[in-house]
Amino acid sequence: MTTTEETPIGYGRMHRKEDVRFLRGHGTYVDDVTLPGMLHGAVLRSPYAHAKIVSIDTSAAEAHPKVRAVITGETLAGLNLAWMPTLSNDVQAVLATDKVRFQGQEVAFVVAEDRYSARDALELIDVDYEALEPVVDARKALDPDAPVIRDDVEGRTDNHIFDWETGDKARTDEVFANAEVVTTQDMLYPRVHPAPLETCGSVADMDPITGKLTVWTTTQAPHAHRTLYALVAGLPEHKIRVISPDIGGGFGNKVGIYPGYVCSIVGSILTGKPVKWVEDRSENLMSTSFARDYHMHGEIASTKDGKILGIRVKVLADHGAFNGTAQPTKYPAGFFGVFTGSYDIEAAHAEVTGVYTNKAPGGVAYACSFRITEAVYLVERLVDVLAHELDMDPARLRMKNLLQPDQFPYQSKTGWEYDSGDYPRTLAKALDLVHYDDLRAEQAKRRESGSQELMGIGVAFFTEAVGAGPRNKMDILGLGMADGAELRIHPTGKAVLRLSCQTQGQGHETTFAQIVAEELGISPEDIDVVHGDTDQTPFGLGTYGSRSTPVSGAATAVVARKVRERAKIVASAMLEVGADDLEWEKGRWFVKGDPGAGKSIQDIAMAAHSSLELPEGIEGQLDATCVYNPPNLTYPFGAYVCVVDVDAGTGQVKVRDFVAVDDCGVRINPMIVEGQVHGGLADGLGMALMQVMAFDEDGNHLGGSFMDYLLPTSMECPSWRLDETVTPSPHHPIGAKGVGESATVGSPAAVVNAVVDALKPYGVRHADMPLTPAAVWCALRGKPFRT
Ligand code: CDP
Repeated sequence: MTTTEETPIGYGRMHRKEDVRFLRGHGTYVDDVTLPGMLHGAVLRSPYAHAKIVSIDTSAAEAHPKVRAVITGETLAGLNLAWMPTLSNDVQAVLATDKVRFQGQEVAFVVAEDRYSARDALELIDVDYEALEPVVDARKALDPDAPVIRDDVEGRTDNHIFDWETGDKARTDEVFANAEVVTTQDMLYPRVHPAPLETCGSVADMDPITGKLTVWTTTQAPHAHRTLYALVAGLPEHKIRVISPDIGGGFGNKVGIYPGYVCSIVGSILTGKPVKWVEDRSENLMSTSFARDYHMHGEIASTKDGKILGIRVKVLADHGAFNGTAQPTKYPAGFFGVFTGSYDIEAAHAEVTGVYTNKAPGGVAYACSFRITEAVYLVERLVDVLAHELDMDPARLRMKNLLQPDQFPYQSKTGWEYDSGDYPRTLAKALDLVHYDDLRAEQAKRRESGSQELMGIGVAFFTEAVGAGPRNKMDILGLGMADGAELRIHPTGKAVLRLSCQTQGQGHETTFAQIVAEELGISPEDIDVVHGDTDQTPFGLGTYGSRSTPVSGAATAVVARKVRERAKIVASAMLEVGADDLEWEKGRWFVKGDPGAGKSIQDIAMAAHSSLELPEGIEGQLDATCVYNPPNLTYPFGAYVCVVDVDAGTGQVKVRDFVAVDDCGVRINPMIVEGQVHGGLADGLGMALMQVMAFDEDGNHLGGSFMDYLLPTSMECPSWRLDETVTPSPHHPIGAKGVGESATVGSPAAVVNAVVDALKPYGVRHADMPLTPAAVWCALRGKPFRT
């Protein structure tokens, strides 16, 4: 795939090294793991959203000739494992003991000789349920007569989880009281699902002789999972090995620990055999972590001529039956605090209330940094609603209010320090690329003609905050958010980089090798990247929230620089000059003023392992380790413009054009960055136009397959047009910011703004996602629409 000629020694476009194995069918996913004597597990799930469990009769299933074990909540209670902690310091039932609290909840686990028998035996389990009234609508969860979902917690009398606020309320109220214009808008960011193509699963193998547990599992955070297994199950941590092999997409869905993982471990302990559990598509959609589900009430204050002064927000957050959201401990609403967006405003305040409902738990950062997608959608819709009210062009309104380059580092009104940016330049570039003025002229003509083919132009500008920690501010269940890296240089100058982050398809085996290549001048082809195995890699918090490049990427640069410094001392011994007399150029140290007298990194590596007399204090070898604790998040940003045509007769939306100008600082591999942006744009289009996890009034899940929960295909996507600006992060060792999630964060607002803009002649100011043909048709006719 990659030839030496086209391989950059450092940053640049380069085919992904890992694709050689994926394209030839040599990837190893969890379901590819097969061990001698392996058994298979299957989960019995609740058909009810809310019901009391009167009794469970497993005798017929146990009598099945191929069944080796049937595990219920009672079995687990005997092991003190019926409940497990969630990532938000709540508890979640592994297998239900008292009640079921969402449709699809785990009730029993069958271990059998093959997958089919395990599934057949599920049907032999007889569960007697007593149906209870469910809470489906989050807006009714706090009603005085609402059924209490979490009565497992003694003394609980309601469905309230938390209240959280940020910003300066008094100052914000003052700004609003004095503002010339105040505009309000209610909006829903619907419940959606990360829907990775590979569902979740695990193979657990407890070796009864050594007492070592090995778990191959779909996890984005193998080290955190290992520590949690040790803490929860009381197993010694050094006797647990978590292996996250090739992963077919995570998008936040594979951050937490699911009951199926725990059951496969218990199944292996009970049977003494390895146990594989892999869920199917419906199980993944119905029971694993959802995202979003924020009911938002936003207010924006401005002057009459469009200077934005303040933003005020109230959010009702639907967290499902167990509070299983994934975010740093001190941030119950994730990084929603960046809701002031990219604008220079005087004051802001937000209040978020979390509630339980009878739906699956979660609230994960689906391709975003902990609720930033919700924040960006809110502010970008508010700005468009304000433009509508003031009858101003939404692009010009943004340009008027964007932060200016000399305001960085910028202290936001809710306490975030944006690291760097030149926002007006990025927006101007996007508007130029899309030919904004021409489009507005075409739209005016179209409107004049009374055409039924409506045209809309949507602009969105986003700022993300990615790369959690620092660890004194950010932890997950007490584990500080830092990452480790180890770099070993072999005598022949080839290298192995071991990382704590875990790729799920983002190309880390290529880009992290490129970082070492840039720092040391070793070809990326000569550098192996090892990740996803707790026995082989240093501790760290994993990959989500676009944190790999900001944290592990920084760790990689730092560890490579340590190697370079060691190499300098060895080179000084080789060249018989003082280390201070040496100068670095990519790939070699040479004597200052005498470029011919130098040693390549490969020569130095061999010498470091040789009998060469090394200076005092140098042990030999070049290997180094590093733990990187980021001083701040990085703040990538971008300007997106979407152009849609809407058929007024059918409500059908067609995305005609989409321009995305992203700034993620220094780009390690522009080809991979573009791939990340393409994927995120498709994701965002899906959310804006077609995706929702809907429920009926009994709490029945209405989106349990890809027939109902739609993923966009190339048929719905335009040919994305991308460009870039590059504003390096000042605190990141190589100036890079994360990018994996930028497009998912920025694009939904651009698409919705475009559709609503198309409907403007009909007096439409807002419509909630997903903007399906039915939703658009109703909006055009002023009718209410509910998915
Ligand atoms: O944490 P995750 O890998 O999902 O996100 P990321 O750190 O934003 O990186 C996604 C992919 O893009 C990785 O392969 C990065 O190394 C690459 N990338 C890049 O080449 N240049 C950047 N400035 C940022 C990311």
